[in-house]
Amino acid sequence: MSELLRVEDLVKTFPSKKRGVPGFAAVNGVSFTISEGETLGLVGESGCGKTTLGHSVLRLAEPDSGRVFYRGTNILEARDMRPLRKNCR
Ligand SMILES: Nc1ncnc2c1ncn2[C@@H]1O[C@H](COP(=O)(O)OP(=O)(O)OP(=O)(O)O)[C@@H](O)[C@H]1O
Ligand SMILES: [Mg+2]
Repeated sequence: MSELLRVEDLVKTFPSKKRGVPGFAAVNGVSFTISEGETLGLVGESGCGKTTLGHSVLRLAEPDSGRVFYRGTNILEARDMRPLRKNCR
């Protein structure tokens, strides 16, 4: 089966609200691959970063680092997400 989505070493940190307190990584080095026709379930306790991971993959939140390939295109390097969003199926 061909590769649909590949996530490599994704990191998303949120800054701390208190001065002098470092931010924290809601997503810290997540990697996975989903093939066409495959379903991936993401399970974990409340606050473990599931929604933040989804937002980061869609660029609704900008990740700090890592790579996200959708059908072979690194979407974190795409200047315009609209053509990719139009073509998702
Ligand atoms: N915009 C934000 N600014 C600061 N911290 C955030 C933000 N969004 C999420 N967080 C923090 O990041 C961590 C992960 O949150 P996230 O919402 O991704 O968890 P979740 O696994 O989806 O939880 P749930 O199962 O309750 O939906 C939590 O500590 C949360 O407080
Ligand atoms: Mg959530």
